[in-house]
Amino acid sequence: MKILAIPLLMVWGAVQAAQPLSQADTKSAMELAKNNGCFSCHSTAEKVVGPSYSSVAAKYSDDKDAVASLVQSIQYGSKGKWGRIPMPPHASLGKDDLNLLARWILTVEK
Ligand code: HEC
Repeated sequence: MKILAIPLLMVWGAVQAAQPLSQADTKSAMELAKNNGCFSCHSTAEKVVGPSYSSVAAKYSDDKDAVASLVQSIQYGSKGKWGRIPMPPHASLGKDDLNLLARWILTVEK
């Protein structure tokens, strides 16, 4: 069984790498969003105070710099892109967490 499991895992790994985000990354990103209060202003499918993550994903779907822009917006705050309510900065999040959040948001579908 062990001999079979290793090549299988390698194939699985390659399949996962081709996807935008692994299941584990998606899970960590949602944990981050939950623990950092993102869901008090955002939901995945409905506008709350801020835009839904599915509409953010749709807006930036053709933008190859989307991850960098969203990292910027989350870290330093954002205003005037979606409406009159600004998003406050999230200065305590590290680079890796910001990146993961941005990459995850861009995969959210309605
Ligand atoms: C106090 C409410 C609030 C909280 C908390 C909040 N947001 Fe926002 N967010 C907003 C608002 C309002 C906007 C729209 C800002 C604008 O019009 O530019 C926004 C916009 C965004 C955008 C789109 C930015 C762009 O450049 O188009 C992303 C991505 C985002 N938020 C992610 C997050 C994440 C991740 C968190 C948690 C770390 C978070 N937000 C927490 C209110 C919030």
